[in-house]
Amino acid sequence: MNPDFFDFYSRHYGDRWPLLLEAFLEKTNSIKLQFSDSLEPYFLDEASQFAAQCLEVEPGMSVLDMCAAPGGKSLVLASTLAGEGTLQCNDRSPERRIRLQHALENTLPADWRSIIKVTGYDASRFGLHCKESYDRILLDAPCSSERHVVQSPKHLAQWSEKRTKRLSIEQGSLLASAVDALSVGGVVVYSTCALSPLENDAVVQKIMKKRKGKIRLMEISLGFEGAERTEFGVHILPDRCKGRGPIFCAKLEKID
Ligand SMILES: C[S@@+](CC[C@H](N)C(=O)[O-])C[C@H]1O[C@@H](n2cnc3c(N)ncnc32)[C@H](O)[C@@H]1O
Repeated sequence: MNPDFFDFYSRHYGDRWPLLLEAFLEKTNSIKLQFSDSLEPYFLDEASQFAAQCLEVEPGMSVLDMCAAPGGKSLVLASTLAGEGTLQCNDRSPERRIRLQHALENTLPADWRSIIKVTGYDASRFGLHCKESYDRILLDAPCSSERHVVQSPKHLAQWSEKRTKRLSIEQGSLLASAVDALSVGGVVVYSTCALSPLENDAVVQKIMKKRKGKIRLMEISLGFEGAERTEFGVHILPDRCKGRGPIFCAKLEKID
């Protein structure tokens, strides 16, 4: 038990919090990605597929998936590019990169894989070293992952309000890096599987101030029945979206 965890989320979600907890323990609503009979299938939460599709990638674009492992959203991006353009799948964790490589090698046809490069950089450095380099960036940021926390006594015991505040700062610097690495006219989708508002709207609110005049907020279609608009994005939560999510996403265009 960790009373701080339950207090924090009860404060934000009120009467809805017990319903969310209940929905977390139910099965995720997954879809099967399988690109041919001879390739392995990959099962992905439909809300994750939605986040990747929000980026509106088109064949020929240069695309960066900043925090890509274990790779579900990279598969969606790669299938849209279908071998035309470039896709850089980056993740700092060597262990998770092994899972990413496995997913790419076993799920994608060889010609789609030929345009993919896997890298292991600290994503907060892209803005500095690769300024204005990409047409599209997906930042699926490291986050509190409350769905996972409630199912793991170890992670539940480790949760603290300080941790979600620290993650919010880290997410802010990753998003600033993504904005700086985008070409003018390029688009970034910021997504998390967090419930904490500090890791969702608050991160977008900060970047709107920090990069004022350089970016504009874009509208995202709701995608699913039960999906909710927030101040800056869309939240898909499992209690109202038939087990899908949680996924928060917000979309920004670089205008200058
Ligand atoms: C939410 S997960 C990404 C899930 C992935 N997009 C997918 O759809 O399968 C966040 C990832 O960010 C990676 N990460 C955390 N901090 C990072 C950093 N500073 N630079 C690059 N990757 C980072 C973690 O290793 C983790 O794999």
